[in-house]
Amino acid sequence: MSEIRKRNKEVAIEKPSVIDNKIENKTTIFFSRIVVISSLLIVVYFSSKDEKVITFASQTETLIGKGLVVECSQDYINEINKYDECYPKECKRFVTDQVVSAREVDNLLKIAKKGFQFGGSDGGASILDLHSGALSKGQHFINIYKIEATKYLFSENDYNILRVIKEKIKYAVAQHFGADPNKLYLTSPTFFSELTSRKPSNIHDEYWHPHVDKETYRSFHYTSLLYLGDYGVDFKGGRFVFIDEKFNRTIEPKKGRVSMFTSGRENFHYVEKVTSGVRYALTVAFTCDKQFEIN
Ligand SMILES: *[C@@H]1O[C@H](CO)[C@@H](O)[C@H](O)[C@H]1NC(C)=O
Repeated sequence: MSEIRKRNKEVAIEKPSVIDNKIENKTTIFFSRIVVISSLLIVVYFSSKDEKVITFASQTETLIGKGLVVECSQDYINEINKYDECYPKECKRFVTDQVVSAREVDNLLKIAKKGFQFGGSDGGASILDLHSGALSKGQHFINIYKIEATKYLFSENDYNILRVIKEKIKYAVAQHFGADPNKLYLTSPTFFSELTSRKPSNIHDEYWHPHVDKETYRSFHYTSLLYLGDYGVDFKGGRFVFIDEKFNRTIEPKKGRVSMFTSGRENFHYVEKVTSGVRYALTVAFTCDKQFEIN
């Protein structure tokens, strides 16, 4: 009997401490939940800030083709309306790693470097336009076709390599936008670019400003870019960025990667500053207006 009472007593004594424990546990759980929830909120807040930039085409992937349809800007429609067979089925961006081979890229790089060794802007951006002969040098441009040393710098073979690439890209553009390749004309400027992290010395060096190609170059209807180097390997920074309403979308340059897009306001974009290394690319543009055709 006394044992039972004793046990009861013990139980009676123990009870309050169990309740206390439970209360303590509940408070701990309550506070740890607050900590977990608020840290989750913090993580979500910061990662959603980061998520405003989407990688549309990563350097590490090889794309057969990836496209995104965007709504054509009114200005673009108004202008391109009159060119029946050059009219895009839809405005969009398209990236493919299948059009230009590694060998072709190597050849193009040799051509670009051969030209750039005679030029080079004081700032971070240089261009070489083999059609007009314009080459950045110091604060200005020189015309390589007017200088003895560079007049015959490029061989017939170099021009042929370039011509083949431009044709290939033209057919790819025509195919992906549903246009007639015979109604699509290569236009000016079509050029090699060399971007470095050097400080800008004039406005031409400031390639990172957001812009609409159609507003910079009136004759452009389709813009395409061929990358000659790898993002994160040959250079840092220098991603191509489409500025969209909710998210910005980046294209990471990759050797042989071709991006193409309609040149209107629907494809507002900029190129990030290169922070190290050298970034080479070839800009190839097409117009629907035959009067702006170049060879
Ligand atoms: C996209 O980039 C532009 C230019 O750098 C910037 O002003 C804008 O805030 C960015 N948009 C988003 C959603 O991050």
